[in-house]
Amino acid sequence: MSITDDCPAVAGLSGVRACVFDAYGTLFDVNSAAREAADELGDDWLRLSELWRQKQLQYTWLRGLAGRHADFWQVTGDALDFALDALRIERGGLRERLMGLYLRLHCYPEVPGVLRELRYAGVRRAILSNGTPEMLAAAVHNSGLDGLFDALLSVEEVGVFKPHPSVYQLAADRLAIAPAAICFLSSNAWDAYSAKAFGFRVLWCNRLGQAPERLPETPDAEIADLRCLPALLGVAAR
Ligand code: LAC
Repeated sequence: MSITDDCPAVAGLSGVRACVFDAYGTLFDVNSAAREAADELGDDWLRLSELWRQKQLQYTWLRGLAGRHADFWQVTGDALDFALDALRIERGGLRERLMGLYLRLHCYPEVPGVLRELRYAGVRRAILSNGTPEMLAAAVHNSGLDGLFDALLSVEEVGVFKPHPSVYQLAADRLAIAPAAICFLSSNAWDAYSAKAFGFRVLWCNRLGQAPERLPETPDAEIADLRCLPALLGVAAR
C-alpha cells in the first residue's frame, strides 16, 4: 500500500500554486536541540525543551499584544533563560550550547523528499516564520535544504509575530499569489487556524496528535506529517 492510500481527501486543492510552510515544529524538530544536549541535561531534556518552547511562543504573543517587538533570537534566548531558571538547571556553557543547537535543528525525515517532489511539479515553496532571516537561513542550510525554497520569509519584515494577519499577508504579497491559491502548512494549531482565518487553504500538520483548537475557522484538513502533501495537491510522482 502506498502512502497516498492513507491520505485524506480534500476538495479544491488542485488550484494551489504555492506551499508556504511554518518552520519550527513543522519542518524542524524543536525538541532536537535539547535532545542533542541530553548528555548534560539527563532526564530533564524533554521537560526543558517543552517549557522552552511554551515560553518562547508565549513571549511572542505577549510582545505582540503589548506592542513590544523583539526578534525571535532574543525571545528564544529569553525563553531558554526562563526555562533553565525554572528547572534550576545551572551549567556553565549550556545556554550557549543550546542556542547554537537551535541553529542546527533537525528537519523531519520526509521534508527533503516532499520539497523535491513539489519543486519537480512546479509548485512554489516558501517558509513563513517567526524566525529571524539569520535563524531561518541557518536551519535550512544545516538541514541540507538549500535550494529547495523560493523564499524564506521572516516576520522581521513586518515587525510583529504570528498570528498577526500582516504576517500572512506578507507571504501573499511576496509570492504575488492570491491567498486562496496558497496552501499553508503548520504543526502549530493556533498558526494553522489563524492562517485559515486569513484566507489561505490550510493543512494542519498535527504531528503530535493534539486536540483541535477552539478558535475561529478550522483548517481544511489534518495530516499527521507532510508525506501526503504532493498527493493532496494532485502532483504526486507515480
Ligand atoms: C514559526 C513558529 C511559530 O516558525 O513555529 O513561525
